[in-house]
Amino acid sequence: MVENLALLGGTRALNRIEELDSASRWPIFGDEEKKAVCEVLDSRDPYSYIGRFEDEFASYHNVKFALAHNNGTSALHSAYFAVGVEPGDEVITPAYTWHLQVAPILALHAIPVFCDIDPRTGCIDPRDIEHKISHRTKAIVVVHLYGAVAPMDEIISIAKDHDIAVIEDCSHAHGAKYKGRKVGTIGDIGCFSLQASKLMTGIEGGVMITNNEEYYERACILGHYERIPRLRMEKYRRYYQTDRDMAPSCFGFKYRIHPLAAAIASIQLKHLDEWNSIRRSNMTYITKALSIIGEELGYIFEPPYEAPGTERLWYGYVCQYHPDKTGVSKSRFIEALKAEGLPASDMRGFLPVYWNPIYEERSVWREGYPFDASYVSRKITYERGICPEAERIWLRTIRLPVIHRRVSIELLEEYVYAIEKVLRNISSLR
Ligand SMILES: Cc1ncc(COP(=O)(O)O)c(C=O)c1O
Repeated sequence: MVENLALLGGTRALNRIEELDSASRWPIFGDEEKKAVCEVLDSRDPYSYIGRFEDEFASYHNVKFALAHNNGTSALHSAYFAVGVEPGDEVITPAYTWHLQVAPILALHAIPVFCDIDPRTGCIDPRDIEHKISHRTKAIVVVHLYGAVAPMDEIISIAKDHDIAVIEDCSHAHGAKYKGRKVGTIGDIGCFSLQASKLMTGIEGGVMITNNEEYYERACILGHYERIPRLRMEKYRRYYQTDRDMAPSCFGFKYRIHPLAAAIASIQLKHLDEWNSIRRSNMTYITKALSIIGEELGYIFEPPYEAPGTERLWYGYVCQYHPDKTGVSKSRFIEALKAEGLPASDMRGFLPVYWNPIYEERSVWREGYPFDASYVSRKITYERGICPEAERIWLRTIRLPVIHRRVSIELLEEYVYAIEKVLRNISSLR
């Protein structure tokens, strides 16, 4: 197929621009969310919306406890604290992730140990976890990156062998499934961001879920002082007993979600399954078509991978384009897609986390701290090359729109055609 690319003066492949624009716009709040916000504002008990949302979120996941937070970062901080991460402990974390999934480890004066990823999914690679475990490893964090589902059986099995907790960061994958089970319910704790770009949102917000009462109560003493009087365990309840003359306290943070965020998220949760099923139908159609084209063209382009036994979702439709095979840079490929009418972009900010000076220079509060503190048992360093796949994947990732609404088949065909057209004519971009 030799066609003039739109970037080079040819006709644009995508005509249904408006349809794509409205179907890929996210988030969208409808009358239900607006009504819910007004209800909270008019309510004499705005905080009751938090408990209501938590009950719904716990019931959706069929778990005992859901603890809403002001954001996903604080939910992760609570989770690390809950499983007992102490100063000098090590937490195994994927190297390719959003930095705020890692930073709360440092906030506990613990040491992140970066693990490489599976290049097909971007999720943590269980084979590398084995290499990274030490006697100080307290937890493994798994991120279901961009909606791909990590190989939980392998990860849980390693964690069990070493008596290590597993925390699932499901910030990109609300409602995704692993062998029929919802993500966030397979490890010891699941954490979710509800920030505005996420698949369900309160604009800001987060949730920690677990079946483990000890973990739930520990999370409460870190950042939810108001719940302490109602905890079941005396060892934690003793920090704030309302029937005694004692000053309330908690362990240093206030992580309560805003009631307006909880009320919005309640409505979003109600629609999550329906929305996920529409996204699945659209993005599976596109993925199937692109897989065939990618294979035919020698894998110069790979749509998002869905591992067998998983039901993935899409936080951004993150594909991999191989400039080393085509001789055409990623930025030029993105320009060509945009010219065809398909909004494409780079995954800005998603880089190996240890490329930040905090890790490269190994200093947070002062030089060498906490990395060389007296309670740390071995020297962890973050030089280039420690996670080669994580250092390569970002060179290939491009973000395309997720189609969140029901659309015409013609739009799906045009979406595929825009990519196919650029790929088949890639040599004209050299
Ligand atoms: C994988 C991942 N974990 C955690 C977070 C932090 O969530 P929040 O922004 O709600 O604090 C994000 C935010 O985008 C994320 O992408």
